[in-house]
Amino acid sequence: MKKHIFLIGFMGVGKTTVSQKLKALMNADEIDMDAVIVRENHMTISEMFERFGEDYFREKETELLRRIAWYKPTIVSCGGGCVMRKENVALMKACGTIVLLTAEPVTVYHRVKNGTARPVLNGHMNVKYIAGLMEKRRAAYEGACDMSVSTDGKRPAQIAEEILGQITRSKDYTEGGNML
Ligand code: S3P
Repeated sequence: MKKHIFLIGFMGVGKTTVSQKLKALMNADEIDMDAVIVRENHMTISEMFERFGEDYFREKETELLRRIAWYKPTIVSCGGGCVMRKENVALMKACGTIVLLTAEPVTVYHRVKNGTARPVLNGHMNVKYIAGLMEKRRAAYEGACDMSVSTDGKRPAQIAEEILGQITRSKDYTEGGNML
């Protein structure tokens, strides 16, 4: 049953903020995967990358998605690299509608440039690198999603309303599968 809403997309597209708006609009449960992993492991994502490596973090993402499959209908803000594992996409597809948020590299740069919590961008905080990585991930993002919303120049509330509009027009919803 397609019960959850998964927000996917590159770092800085606004998944966490939009997820909060959707939670308020829909009066639904909401979780941020990165925040859960940080809380459960008592360390930041940067620390985890440093001490145990990226694969360790990726395994934590997969473990968490396996648990989320059993949760009641929830809005899930996913980490930007989550869809790079086929298993993760299969887990999400089996129990939710996958919504891709997009933004131009320059928009992402301005949103993330002052942050230090994203190890993937450490030492590469520039538009060229962001554009390159986004391009490498494009097929995975586009292949995974059921629908997509561009976020450039839009307010989070407007993006959340667009998502809701698309979901209520989608087959999952009209056929009664989406429980949110
Ligand atoms: C990552 C994105 C981050 C976080 C981790 C890795 C990525 O999440 O999961 O730093 O590989 O794109 P956000 O997309 O919420 O920044």
